[in-house]
Amino acid sequence: MKTNMLPLLVSLAFADISECFSTIHAQLTPGAPPGAVPIGKDFTSFSIEYSHFPWFAGNRSQPNQFSINLLLNLGRMTGLMPVIRVGGNTQDDIHYNASLTVPEYIPGAVIDDHRPPIYVGPSFFSSFGTFPNTLYIPGINLAMNGSAGTATRKIETELTCKALGSSLFMFEVGNEPDHYMNYFRRPSNWTVDEYVEEWLTGSQLVADVMASACPHLVKQSSGFFAPSFGGTDLGKPFSAQTAFEGGQDSRHDIRQISVHNYMGSATNPGISLQGTLMNHSSIMRSLAAHVTLAAELRNFTTVPYVLGETNSLSGGGATGLSNVFGSALWVVDYSLYAASQGILRAHFHQSVTSPYAAWTPNGTLTTNPPYYGNIMVNAAIGSAPGTVIAPLELQTINDDRVSAYVLYDHGGKTLPRVVILNMREWISTAVGTRPALNVTLAVPAGANGARVERLAAAGANVTTGITYAGTSYDYDLAQGQPTVVDEAASRETVLVDSSAKTISVDIPDSQGVVLHLF
Ligand SMILES: *[C@@H]1O[C@H](CO)[C@@H](O)[C@H](O)[C@H]1NC(C)=O
Ligand SMILES: *[C@@H]1O[C@H](CO)[C@@H](O)[C@H](O)[C@H]1NC(C)=O
Ligand SMILES: *[C@@H]1O[C@H](CO)[C@@H](O)[C@H](O)[C@H]1NC(C)=O
Ligand SMILES: *[C@@H]1O[C@H](CO)[C@@H](O)[C@H](O)[C@H]1NC(C)=O
Ligand SMILES: *[C@@H]1O[C@H](CO)[C@@H](O)[C@H](O)[C@H]1NC(C)=O
Ligand SMILES: *[C@@H]1O[C@H](CO)[C@@H](O)[C@H](O)[C@H]1NC(C)=O
Ligand SMILES: *[C@@H]1O[C@H](CO)[C@@H](O)[C@H](O)[C@H]1NC(C)=O
Ligand SMILES: *[C@@H]1O[C@H](CO)[C@@H](O)[C@H](O)[C@H]1NC(C)=O
Ligand SMILES: *[C@@H]1O[C@H](CO)[C@@H](O)[C@H](O)[C@H]1NC(C)=O
Repeated sequence: MKTNMLPLLVSLAFADISECFSTIHAQLTPGAPPGAVPIGKDFTSFSIEYSHFPWFAGNRSQPNQFSINLLLNLGRMTGLMPVIRVGGNTQDDIHYNASLTVPEYIPGAVIDDHRPPIYVGPSFFSSFGTFPNTLYIPGINLAMNGSAGTATRKIETELTCKALGSSLFMFEVGNEPDHYMNYFRRPSNWTVDEYVEEWLTGSQLVADVMASACPHLVKQSSGFFAPSFGGTDLGKPFSAQTAFEGGQDSRHDIRQISVHNYMGSATNPGISLQGTLMNHSSIMRSLAAHVTLAAELRNFTTVPYVLGETNSLSGGGATGLSNVFGSALWVVDYSLYAASQGILRAHFHQSVTSPYAAWTPNGTLTTNPPYYGNIMVNAAIGSAPGTVIAPLELQTINDDRVSAYVLYDHGGKTLPRVVILNMREWISTAVGTRPALNVTLAVPAGANGARVERLAAAGANVTTGITYAGTSYDYDLAQGQPTVVDEAASRETVLVDSSAKTISVDIPDSQGVVLHLF
């Protein structure tokens, strides 16, 4: 036994020496590189499933303080609160019942793909406006047709605009109408032209009700978030492109384009942490169709393009993938890559019980791994004005598990922040030395060093013990408010090697860093 083991140990030791510290070089330019694009302070935004909104928000008399703490952390880092879209599949299931004394009543489950109604009463609308200094994009039911549909849109618009007041950003009319045929919401031969006609009628009604119920909001809150399709559907007869061709923006009141994206479905075979989420190629591939669609739609409108509902895997995400630390690294690479391609915001979708939820707002309260990715993104964005972002080209490495970005403030005239992600999978229970990348960056003149903030955990597959810059946002410590748990990590710095004009930092597998040059 022993003699058999020996050659294996020797080769492992050799592997350790050669692989443990792969060295990466990159050149930081004194100003932002060509192709750097602005990144918004509210890039990190959320979408909350309509029927779960009361659990996330609480209500006027009892707001959900944990949600508020977590949103405030993000808002303080960039100076702007995340935008909250309230919508999703259940947005199109809403019926209004004026006699309901509870916020909502859900009588049944999906039967043969027919979705059951969800009744909301007057108190449901008291959940709007509990988050401080926050703008909302509330969803309106478009699936319900006939006079019942008209009446529902009318009352929803009135109660929502009155509840939100100046927190109303704009309305969204219909969620993923390109998928209505899948739920028997429309006949299978429903066409994009019929959709456009219904949307124009429905959104005009919303605008008219706004003008009479909330006239003081018309100036700031008009225009729509649309078409909120489930897919880019490039080249298909029912797509955002054909809807715009069919005149969806003929009134020029689409204020921001919203299209949804997931990396795949929780039930797809072959989905894995390394192959799907902790993988820069797979992230670029997932967003490529959006980059194409955004360019196509510029033939019709110049308004910004937003991922109006997104997350790791559709269907709530998958346990073991969407709810583990690797998904935090995914959030960072996905967000920064999307931003570097000119996407204005990403609304990470939330529902109470879903594995991809950034936090669990009721029952056993927890801050979940994806939230730490949102924190790192906002730390990279920062609060200074005029921030621009570009991918950073890494030399001496060609690995789709490693990616990097640079961010400059004031339109590109400052020393940069550098984000480097080592998404090589390290499982917490693995034995041996955790490999690391040794990154050496040539820095511009005037740089003396960098503050080093790490997104760290014991491994890609853990769900707890995650920190950013030595700080925990877990519920159990301070109800989600930042708590330094690793003093040294919260103060880590690296100085410039004055002769080589470089800085070097080691990044263990399954870890990310933000370097704030000073
Ligand atoms: C509306 O709510 C009331 C009070 O719960 C209930 O009695 C009534 O049946 C509901 N109506 C509908 C159509 O569900
Ligand atoms: C707010 O929520 C609390 C707790 O669920 C509930 O007791 C209270 O009645 C609600 N208030 C309103 C105005 O809906
Ligand atoms: C509403 O849509 C359903 C499903 O497509 C259809 O059966 C029904 O006739 C429509 N009703 C009206 C009033 O358009
Ligand atoms: C869809 O099918 C229905 C029933 O077969 C038919 O009456 C209707 O005209 C069709 N609509 C279109 C747009 O083809
Ligand atoms: C990353 O994703 C790409 C594209 O889906 C795939 O070809 C590649 O094998 C993946 N890389 C790893 C390390 O799994
Ligand atoms: C914009 O429209 C023109 C004319 O229809 C077309 O040739 C071009 O390919 C379109 N651009 C994009 C990016 O789709
Ligand atoms: C949490 O919210 C979900 C979604 O509305 C609900 O089904 C569940 O009962 C709630 N759990 C607790 C413990 O309140
Ligand atoms: C990383 O690279 C730098 C520059 O080549 C070197 O000084 C440093 O010792 C390396 N660190 C490790 C842990 O290999
Ligand atoms: C991480 O993966 C290892 C190896 O598969 C496993 O033993 C361990 O339980 C996993 N940890 C978690 C938190 O899933």
